[in-house]
Amino acid sequence: MALQISATNPEHPALLLELPWNLPLAEWPEHHLVPLPRGISRHVVRYARAGDEVVAVKELAERPAVREYGLLLGLDRLGIPAVDPLAVVTGRTDAAGEPLESVLITRHLGGSLPYRSMFETTMRPATMHRLMDALAVLLVRLHLAGFAWGDCSLSNTLFRRDAGAYAAYLVDAETGELHPRLSTGQREYDLDLARVNISGELLDLEAAGALHPSVDPIEFGQEICARYRGLWEELTRTSVYPAGKYHYIDRRIRRLNDLGFDVAEMQIASSSNGDTVTFVPKVVDAGHHQRQLLRLTGLDTEENQARRLLNDLESWMATQDDYAAGSAAPGRDAGRPHTARPEVLAHRWVRDVFRPAVRAVPQDLRGSMEPAELYHELLEHRWFLSERAQHDIGLDAAVKDYVTNILPRARAPIPAPGEAPEATDRYPVPEQR
Ligand SMILES: Nc1ncnc2c1ncn2[C@@H]1O[C@H](COP(=O)(O)OP(=O)(O)OP(=O)(O)O)[C@@H](O)[C@H]1O
Ligand SMILES: [Mg+2]
Repeated sequence: MALQISATNPEHPALLLELPWNLPLAEWPEHHLVPLPRGISRHVVRYARAGDEVVAVKELAERPAVREYGLLLGLDRLGIPAVDPLAVVTGRTDAAGEPLESVLITRHLGGSLPYRSMFETTMRPATMHRLMDALAVLLVRLHLAGFAWGDCSLSNTLFRRDAGAYAAYLVDAETGELHPRLSTGQREYDLDLARVNISGELLDLEAAGALHPSVDPIEFGQEICARYRGLWEELTRTSVYPAGKYHYIDRRIRRLNDLGFDVAEMQIASSSNGDTVTFVPKVVDAGHHQRQLLRLTGLDTEENQARRLLNDLESWMATQDDYAAGSAAPGRDAGRPHTARPEVLAHRWVRDVFRPAVRAVPQDLRGSMEPAELYHELLEHRWFLSERAQHDIGLDAAVKDYVTNILPRARAPIPAPGEAPEATDRYPVPEQR
């Protein structure tokens, strides 16, 4: 049986060939490996260097490897936040010709943390609520897309900072199933698994003394279900409005947009006597603000970061001479003389405001923080200082103060790949001011 690397991107196999496929993953030499924190897993998982990329390599039998690869590709097409599948390697043998297990290779999700690392410093309950929110949103998105996870848990999720909150990514799709749509029973079953897994994981943390004393693991497990149900209801319920009140429909769509979701289709029907109108949205795509920011500025960010940046962009636009009110909304300024198109203003904002602010923060102090997250922190700091001073202190002053007074204390620099001493490096998670 010959070594076979199946990948979607033709450049990847060449890079991956450099890796020592004839050795069991647990025995790979250090120089191939990148010591970043990992979650708990049954399979052997390691991070390795492939060209400029850091990849996660998971050793498992061929069938589940191929299946998980396919599922991750499916989730990618549906725009679900999950790790990117890069390749499956099969037909491995060791030096004596004995078969070795196949591997699944995914792109290491930069800036992400497994939950265990996040709990290394006792997490405050408020931060934990944010974590649960992110996980509930992920589960709703998966269910809207027809994906039954089968093993939703904290260790099968990765978290990224997202403007003071978190964005959750699916990391382990092995038990998942993709259907055209899920029945209520399928969703409830999946949710129940999530509840049991999460409570169990929190009980483990409690036993290890890593949980805040006020946190009840069982209640937190129930809380995630409540959050899930609230969001599901908001996104899918049928509304009934008095006939003629079409702006109520508009209002509901805006609320869904505020939650970060877009409405792909809707069913509107009048009652037989014509008194009322029912409205059922078909919510498909999350990432409403994300897409808007990407379209306007080319910046690819998390949803909350995008919402934050769009607000800043809007207020900045309003100070520009060639701005037309409401022009950040698509299409509203068509044909107006003497006003710049929103895309033009947005690019100016990126060039003159966003980039200079981010660049003013020395690279070594930024650690693994993404530019959008850093900019969000700068805005927070500006708000904080301005409140204290009782007037707007401006972005430049906020950046200077942040660099001198906040960053050095808040964040020890995060080691670059290869420089970290061991696999369990602490990544300080920012506490809320
Ligand atoms: N692409 C990735 N980026 C970042 N971390 C990753 C990635 N892939 C895997 N990991 C880390 O490795 C851990 C284990 O991966 P995974 O959950 O897929 O393994 P598993 O053996 O299938 O788990 P289980 O025991 O739940 O079956 C994850 O919790 C995560 O911390
Ligand atoms: Mg797992």
